[in-house]
Amino acid sequence: MAPAPTLQELYAIHTGKVSDKWSLYLDVYEAAFARFRDRPIAFAEIGVQNGGSLEIWAKYFAQAPVVVGCDIDPKCGSLAFDDPRIAVVVGNVNTDATYRAILAHSPLYDVFIDDGSHTSRDIIHTFCNYFRHVKAGGVYAIEDLHCSYLRQWGGGVDRPDTSMEFLKRLADWVNRAWWRADRDPLSLFDPFFAASARPDAASFRAVRSVTFLDSMCLIEKRAGDEAPGAGRRVIVGSEASVSAEPLALRGKRDT
Ligand SMILES: C[S@@+](CC[C@H](N)C(=O)[O-])C[C@H]1O[C@@H](n2cnc3c(N)ncnc32)[C@H](O)[C@@H]1O
Repeated sequence: MAPAPTLQELYAIHTGKVSDKWSLYLDVYEAAFARFRDRPIAFAEIGVQNGGSLEIWAKYFAQAPVVVGCDIDPKCGSLAFDDPRIAVVVGNVNTDATYRAILAHSPLYDVFIDDGSHTSRDIIHTFCNYFRHVKAGGVYAIEDLHCSYLRQWGGGVDRPDTSMEFLKRLADWVNRAWWRADRDPLSLFDPFFAASARPDAASFRAVRSVTFLDSMCLIEKRAGDEAPGAGRRVIVGSEASVSAEPLALRGKRDT
């Protein structure tokens, strides 16, 4: 049997409804999402626009029973799709009604892509609202993060409250075991929220990795059976003629 077409190939042969993505994303997604392709996953993308990406995602994730898009533009509600697995929720992603409508399709998602408004405020809030609804082992992706550097999207390279600054702190959060004795890890996120509106960080504990690429970021959720942290020291061999130090660390855990 011929192998299933890659995401690049699906984009190359696509006709009909328009989709607009950077080529880098297609390569990155291919590597990050390959493991989901043959599974009955739940998929969501914030930002539908013309609907082309939803059509392609439905082909890419051929076993997915649910391919949900969300867009604030009411015109997206009139988009007609041949594939009955595709559903569009019209509304602002961060309102209660839209949140409930997205979760009504699936309470948990394996793959969740934020390609919505691209303002820093929305990106941060969308992550706080929806990362907790990513399944263990799932992936949350954010596109067009260059907007974090552009003033018209509430960005700027030296601004302390942009989406990129938030995500950089999420990388510090992943490493918190190494510095949490010095500072309350949750205080990392203070610049982004009023004191009374700190996010529920329970789901942040499951962040396994934060991967930055040009204008995009992938946040992976730890699989249920994976322990947090760097694990134990794997020290093999017996000749330590330069330093015997590693030998004493055999089997030691990260912190
Ligand atoms: C870049 S387009 C999406 C492109 C599409 N994902 C693709 O790959 O072809 C961004 C879309 O996000 C929508 N959007 C902007 N703010 C939003 C919000 N707060 N909630 C939901 N959708 C939003 C816009 O209406 C626009 O259609």
